[in-house]
Amino acid sequence: MKVLFVHGAGNTGATWRAQIPAFPGAEAVDLPGHPGGPSCPTVEDYSDWLKGFIDQRGYQKVILIGHSMGGAITLSHALRYSQQLKAIGLIGTGARLRINPVIFETLAEDYEKAKEVALDFVMGPEATPEQREEWRQQKADIRREVAEGDYRACDRFDVMERVDEIKLPTLIVCGSEDKLTPVKYSQFLHDRIKGSQLHVVPRAGHALLLEKAEEFNRILSEFLTHLGREVSN
Ligand code: COA
Repeated sequence: MKVLFVHGAGNTGATWRAQIPAFPGAEAVDLPGHPGGPSCPTVEDYSDWLKGFIDQRGYQKVILIGHSMGGAITLSHALRYSQQLKAIGLIGTGARLRINPVIFETLAEDYEKAKEVALDFVMGPEATPEQREEWRQQKADIRREVAEGDYRACDRFDVMERVDEIKLPTLIVCGSEDKLTPVKYSQFLHDRIKGSQLHVVPRAGHALLLEKAEEFNRILSEFLTHLGREVSN
């Protein structure tokens, strides 16, 4: 089994900084354009890129875990390339990710300001100034057009009618105070993906991987342990 982490819009694999040491052998990908090269225009294109990435490395039975747009990529992958996957994790995400038009307006006006506004939406009520700064730094090298392209990709993404086709073991985790992908989005996934597990992390926002890393890692660890037992049985 190979655990692969996929980051969200306008971010990099550094999003998973608090997970990588806790899950030896796990890998956090940097999607195309994040920060080098051209990015992909759609969630499906990111999933196609990921298919090539997995094939090239010969990874088997991948456990694909995506945050936010990374969760959308994970959903898309589960619907199109489930043969590559053993299980999925959907973290602070949804089957449809419409973007508030205010985000596009601010991005067009002032990229630095847009990043600060986005931070206010991303961080939960108990996020520390250090965590806020870390999230800001993770995005520092991402170009404006890449961030905007990602938000457009999210805005077009919609698999609400198809998520019930997913038959893989599925872990769903979200923060109770997530303003970007509210609990309702995760509940929707849980109601439609048979056998899925839903965990709502109290007092966490959209950046729950960082804000509540210990609790998130415990939930993921239990899920992986359970999967490991299934594989060896
Ligand atoms: N799962 C479950 N329900 C969802 C959903 C999802 N992934 N996405 C949307 N819905 C629901 C909405 O809650 C809404 O339900 P309601 O009619 O009972 O209120 C309905 O589907 C329609 O939603 P939507 O298409 O998003 O249109 P909207 O006019 O309600 O709002 C936005 C549009 C963009 C303003 C709003 O979606 C929003 O503020 N989103 C969060 C902010 C954001 O930009 N997030 C970034 C995600 S990366």
